[in-house]
Amino acid sequence: MEEKREEKVLYSAVQPSGNLTIGNYIGAIRNWVNMQHEFTCFYAIADMHAITVRQEPALLRRRTLELAALYIACGIDPEKCTLYVQSNVPAHAELAWVLNTVTYVGEMERMTQFKDKAARHAENVNMGLMDYPVLMAADILLYQAHLVPVGVDQRQHLEITRDIAIRFNNRYGETFRVPEAYIVKEGAKITSLQDPLRKMSKSDENPNASVYLADDKDTIMRKFKRAVTDSDNRIAVSEDKPGVTNLLNIYASFKGCTVAEAEKAFEGKGYGDFKLAVGETVADALAPVQAEQKRLLADKGYLADILRRGAESAAYTARKTLAKVFRKVGFYRGE
Ligand code: TRP
Repeated sequence: MEEKREEKVLYSAVQPSGNLTIGNYIGAIRNWVNMQHEFTCFYAIADMHAITVRQEPALLRRRTLELAALYIACGIDPEKCTLYVQSNVPAHAELAWVLNTVTYVGEMERMTQFKDKAARHAENVNMGLMDYPVLMAADILLYQAHLVPVGVDQRQHLEITRDIAIRFNNRYGETFRVPEAYIVKEGAKITSLQDPLRKMSKSDENPNASVYLADDKDTIMRKFKRAVTDSDNRIAVSEDKPGVTNLLNIYASFKGCTVAEAEKAFEGKGYGDFKLAVGETVADALAPVQAEQKRLLADKGYLADILRRGAESAAYTARKTLAKVFRKVGFYRGE
């Protein structure tokens, strides 16, 4: 392992559900890649969280592998961080059980995401859905993480993780590090190509709204051609030009230039040329990632090996915390 600038532990996880968009790439994946050089990172594919809503089993398994391949293709280096599948490390479920006993039903019922999901999946409000934040707390606390990079939608889950850690520590004595939110320097917000005031989402019903990391060049070009702009023909960042602003942000993010430089590059150009150029830039940037992901997926043995080693390394750290927890709560461990 390389020398990290800071010896802090950073924990993050992503669910293997839905197809990732270029918004996820800019907003999350690229940050994971950067953070692995700075911190001791544990990155999980949260398949146990994924099954709190209905999943097709074969698809879940395939997506888990595809996601691992994608992250590696994007620059996650299994030699520099611990990349693993959550369900491969039994300590997550074991710690979640213990944490359940210091978590109150009322506080879980009040969680915003639980209420949203319970409304959206009214036919399947299962215990796992309600317990989701406790499993997430177990993920984080097992690794004694200092930092958890969270977007707004996961803030409340990190807050409850802190509450659970503090409560456990108060009841049983110092056991867990209380993690902090790691606020990532905001990359540009990537919004929908069809409704640029809304976030680009992996679950948008409009197929032209989101560009997926798996899209081929033709698809990407077609989506950008259809992207909503506006009626004047000026290419500039402006609050009253959300569509054009979004395209400039996308261009700058993928080109690795500033938005001002992007504006300059398109001075005097029309929207037609502009959209083509943005599409080309995105397609060209994604092509090598897609090729590498495909290559990795063709070598299942190699991927399996990486994930097995990841799980072993994660389990080693996780077991130390779990042993401490079992001792503190009074579980009989022999002799
Ligand atoms: N719930 C997170 C999401 O959907 C994924 C996740 C699971 C996670 N466990 C985590 C994120 C622990 C951070 C830390 O985005």
